[in-house]
Amino acid sequence: MSGEGLPPEKERVAAWLVYFNDLRIGGFYRNRAGGKSSAAAARKFASPAPRPVAVDKPPAKSPPSSAMKSSLATKSQPQAAAASKVTVLPVAHGPSLFEAFERVPNDTLERIRADIGDCTRCRLCEARNKIVFGVGNPRADLVFVGEGPGRDEDAQGEPFVGRAGKLLTDMIKAMSLERSDVYIANVVKCRPPENRTPERDEIATCSPFLLRQLEVIRPKVIVCLGNVAAQSLLGTNKSISHFRGQWFDFRGSRLIATYHPAYLLRNPAAKSDVWTDLKKVMAVLGLKAARIPKR
Ligand code: URA
Repeated sequence: MSGEGLPPEKERVAAWLVYFNDLRIGGFYRNRAGGKSSAAAARKFASPAPRPVAVDKPPAKSPPSSAMKSSLATKSQPQAAAASKVTVLPVAHGPSLFEAFERVPNDTLERIRADIGDCTRCRLCEARNKIVFGVGNPRADLVFVGEGPGRDEDAQGEPFVGRAGKLLTDMIKAMSLERSDVYIANVVKCRPPENRTPERDEIATCSPFLLRQLEVIRPKVIVCLGNVAAQSLLGTNKSISHFRGQWFDFRGSRLIATYHPAYLLRNPAAKSDVWTDLKKVMAVLGLKAARIPKR
């Protein structure tokens, strides 16, 4: 990191400040005596903000599969134009705490799960039934990141198994993949009561485990499903509608954000946008849309 050469304790403090700033709770950690904000301290050690990157392959030309058509009610869409459009977003500044020194050598998914244990680190533990760690191929090229477990996931201990999960499964199949080919995880591992949006501190507590999962899997592509996943990983508070379908670099993986399947259940008209985004992912991974036999 750019705080190199500092005494180790100062490096550690600098990294924490960057992390709190990334989480947008930096103001809480203001140095009241000196009046110097954590944001200023963080910027001092920050590297340039991540920028969206253009895809180097055109999006897949293949039409939506009939599975996707029936499940996502796809409309025809202009495809290529959005793929390479690059706009700059005010996303995370500099290395996060995790990047700075929380990388776990020889980490594994099993070890991460063991470290989570029977977690009581935040209030979400109070009402949860099962911790929903993540599921799928530990060597997946493609990882989907959702927000947090809902009722079905909380009961079964597996992400995306309810109605939204069935739609996600259809999306995966439309990309000629199975759930077992990809990895699926959430930003928070415990169900927020009444399916409310996870709070910042809950995300801050839980997201290091997601970051470790992504670091172990090192997928080619990460698809963020919805605002919470996208904002948490990109460190922005902009709404997903500003950057949906754009490529970002995320610690060596390509990251793209698209609408959450639960949103699609409420707003079927947005399904065509999601299909457009998934075609960009297929282009990068060299996948073709699934051919579903006609009935
Ligand atoms: N919504 C999510 O974001 N994640 C799940 O696992 C289920 C629904």
